[in-house]
Amino acid sequence: MRNDTAPTPQAIYRKDYVAPGYWVDTVEMGFDLDLDHTHVATRLTMRRNHDSAEKDLVLFGASLKLLQLRMNGVNLKKSAYSIDGEIMRIPNAPDQVVLEIETRIQPVKNTSLSGLYASNGNFITQCEAEGFRKITWFPDRPDVMAKYTVMLRADKKKFPVLLANGNLIEQGDLGDGRHFAKWEDPFKKPSYLFALVAGKLVCQEEKYQLQSGRKVLLQVWVEDGNLDKTQHAMDSLKNSIRWDEERFGLELDLDRFMIVATSDFNMGAMENKGLNIFNTKYVLANPRIATDVDYAGIESVVGHEYFHNWTGNRVTCRDWFQLSLKEGLTVFRDQEFSADLVGTATGRAVKRIEDVRILRQVQFSEDAGPMAHPVRPDSFVEINNFYTVTIYEKGAEVVRMYYTLLGHDGFRKGMDLYFARHDGQAVECDDFRAAMADSSGRDLTQFERWYSQAGTPHVKVQTAYDAAAQIYEITLTQSCAATPGQAEKRPFHIPVAMGLLDSAGHDMPLHCDGYENQSGANSLVLELTDTTQTFRFSQIGSLPVPSLLRNFSAPVILDIEYSDDDLSHLLAHDSDPFNRWEAGQRLASRRLVRLTKAVQQGEKLELDQLFIEAWRRILNDESLDPSFRELMLTLPSEAMIAEEFSVVDPQAIHTARQFVRATLTQHLRADLLRIYETYLTPGKYSPDAASMAKRSLKNLALSYLLEWVDDSTLALALTQFDEAENMTDRLAALTALTNFNGSGKQVKQAAKALKKFYKEFKHEALVIDKWFMLQATAHTTDVKTICELMEHPAFTLTNPNRARSLIFGFCNANPSRFHAADGSGYTLWAELVIALNKINPQVAARLARSLDRWKKYPGHLQAKMKAALGKVAAAKNLSKDVAEVISKALA
Ligand code: PHE
Ligand code: ZN
Repeated sequence: MRNDTAPTPQAIYRKDYVAPGYWVDTVEMGFDLDLDHTHVATRLTMRRNHDSAEKDLVLFGASLKLLQLRMNGVNLKKSAYSIDGEIMRIPNAPDQVVLEIETRIQPVKNTSLSGLYASNGNFITQCEAEGFRKITWFPDRPDVMAKYTVMLRADKKKFPVLLANGNLIEQGDLGDGRHFAKWEDPFKKPSYLFALVAGKLVCQEEKYQLQSGRKVLLQVWVEDGNLDKTQHAMDSLKNSIRWDEERFGLELDLDRFMIVATSDFNMGAMENKGLNIFNTKYVLANPRIATDVDYAGIESVVGHEYFHNWTGNRVTCRDWFQLSLKEGLTVFRDQEFSADLVGTATGRAVKRIEDVRILRQVQFSEDAGPMAHPVRPDSFVEINNFYTVTIYEKGAEVVRMYYTLLGHDGFRKGMDLYFARHDGQAVECDDFRAAMADSSGRDLTQFERWYSQAGTPHVKVQTAYDAAAQIYEITLTQSCAATPGQAEKRPFHIPVAMGLLDSAGHDMPLHCDGYENQSGANSLVLELTDTTQTFRFSQIGSLPVPSLLRNFSAPVILDIEYSDDDLSHLLAHDSDPFNRWEAGQRLASRRLVRLTKAVQQGEKLELDQLFIEAWRRILNDESLDPSFRELMLTLPSEAMIAEEFSVVDPQAIHTARQFVRATLTQHLRADLLRIYETYLTPGKYSPDAASMAKRSLKNLALSYLLEWVDDSTLALALTQFDEAENMTDRLAALTALTNFNGSGKQVKQAAKALKKFYKEFKHEALVIDKWFMLQATAHTTDVKTICELMEHPAFTLTNPNRARSLIFGFCNANPSRFHAADGSGYTLWAELVIALNKINPQVAARLARSLDRWKKYPGHLQAKMKAALGKVAAAKNLSKDVAEVISKALA
């Protein structure tokens, strides 16, 4: 069929959930590992689930060669079962079943990186969500939990290391050049947590003592030559173990915990029981190759995967619609972990701001597009498409709202009850909500809508002040736009943390009707549950400036009309650091919108003194932590500015933003230079919060300085590039050098740096990814340059990190070039989605989403985007993954 809309693929629905017809008690597996043909023998002991409406014994399988199928010792004839797509049904099976299955698989041919695959000659598995079915036939659904014993056999020279979940119970030689290792996982688990790794690997290991006194073995496994890059991951793991003991009373339940790094991985990392598998990006670090951002990423991903051991593994999901049960909660936990590790109030605020920036930029945009879905979706075609910012980041915001509503201790009680009730079970998001409600005695019925309704609510603010009566009123009105399949929304239960600032900038004591038990507090968490509600404050002696949604207490858009003076007041005085930052962003965003329109109209561009002076004050305010200043002084991204428009003009936005950056530099050059010099941090690199903060402010100053470049500022960047001994400073210098507008001679000097960088780091894949990314996102890079870079010998589409650095970097993070007026960006995009679809559907489907918001662009661009979408839709052999994304975009 050839038309320009993809055939809508078959969806599955949450409401259709049926418990499995059979439970699995034990799984014994034997692997004869060979890269071309791996033989898998599986023995399952199963028993009928009498409570299920499903009478057949149902198994799932994909890309398998079935060699043998025996039930209770008897070979099953072809007529005794049926296979339809991925589903095998065995009707009339007895109540107790021992099923023996032999399959053959081809790891080297598996480029999807799901199931058992090869990476640099090693074996790696990835089973979440539905990869286990590519290894053997199995009831591959998360509510089927079983105990696993796994025997691995392989060539001893090629695969000296053999790892699987749990404990190593036996190993030895097989005599024929092969060896074996037998692993037993003492805990029941769903199949998506199965893992094995085999190959040439080396490890850093350590005995670590838990608070209980029990000793555990910790290992970080990497390819040869990378042992100088594992220390930070090991430190992060130990910090994670301690944090979960201290903050949640949760102990590591295994005697051995392993992390393995692989350079071929679709996602960040995976929480397989006792054998976490990581993208190298989130393990390998030393000062020479990794930036401060990389160090922070490793800490939070190591934490995230470790925390899944309780929130995900001990208590898992009943079905994949409940994915956010484990992901939202575990993201919340890793966010808190990183915040607690820094410890200071500013450190916490900085982390909060960074997280909210991502939420707004990516998740709010998802909520406003064709893939919008609730935190707990009602349907999907391909579960891999639902590992989204909504499930993860908005899911974490939903968990954070319980925390805000119940308080620190109340939340902990809820967690304790959750584990007391559900340890060892596969449960639903509603079970988590019930634990929070029952432990606190609060009615959280309406809170359920955060799980069932998609879209970002707006909260409109109106205020009234009666000076004579000293009464101040805040009226909040909530609304939420329609999303696919959900025309009408009912009101959400929204916690609005707030305070009122007096003219000196101090928090006024609050006396709010309905909140008498907290009378006199400096801040309150108002609960908005109706469409419109008025909150009445008494004893307000002068007109306050309201500070609302402190610490971003709910994932909503606050529509409030502040004057520039109000914003300056909040910027200078708000006791809530998040809202101080927010006030600065609002000041900037207002100007960026105005200037974008001026660019479009061909008007003269001007930046006002109030704004320049506000930026100067922040820059020079030594009472503010440098990392906080860096965030304050960073303008809203082009993507954020785009959200302010109903029709987006990426080039005008870019021009406006660059104008503001250059103008600020023109006026603040001396201040920037002084800051640059003050925060130079010569000496040994250390990834602690204080040094990171200094580097970030210094490098922000450098990037501004190159916006109004002369030979002396250029020299600063070149010197920093040549002489810095850490990647943070080198990459910051190189980024500034790749983006500035200089003379021909200056540009040549910068280009030389880029060449030198490549030569120096040719053998460090993660650094070469940065090299591609840097060029992909430079505003001088057009489609033609991208095509040339794709011809570079170091480029390949089959490695997801590499593909992401160049292709995703360009399509998602270089809007003014990707949306070139001639549509060449879209043509390239379509070709690449089609090429990736053959190699790796998951990665292809992610790229497919770059055109999600096509309806937000002017007509002439829309037409070209629609044509590109149509081209992909009409491609042959489209995976379910890509087909779902494209058909939703075109719907
Ligand atoms: N469950 C993993 C995590 O959040 C993510 C993941 C999903 C990895 C699917 C691989 C495949 O940590
Ligand atoms: Zn996770």
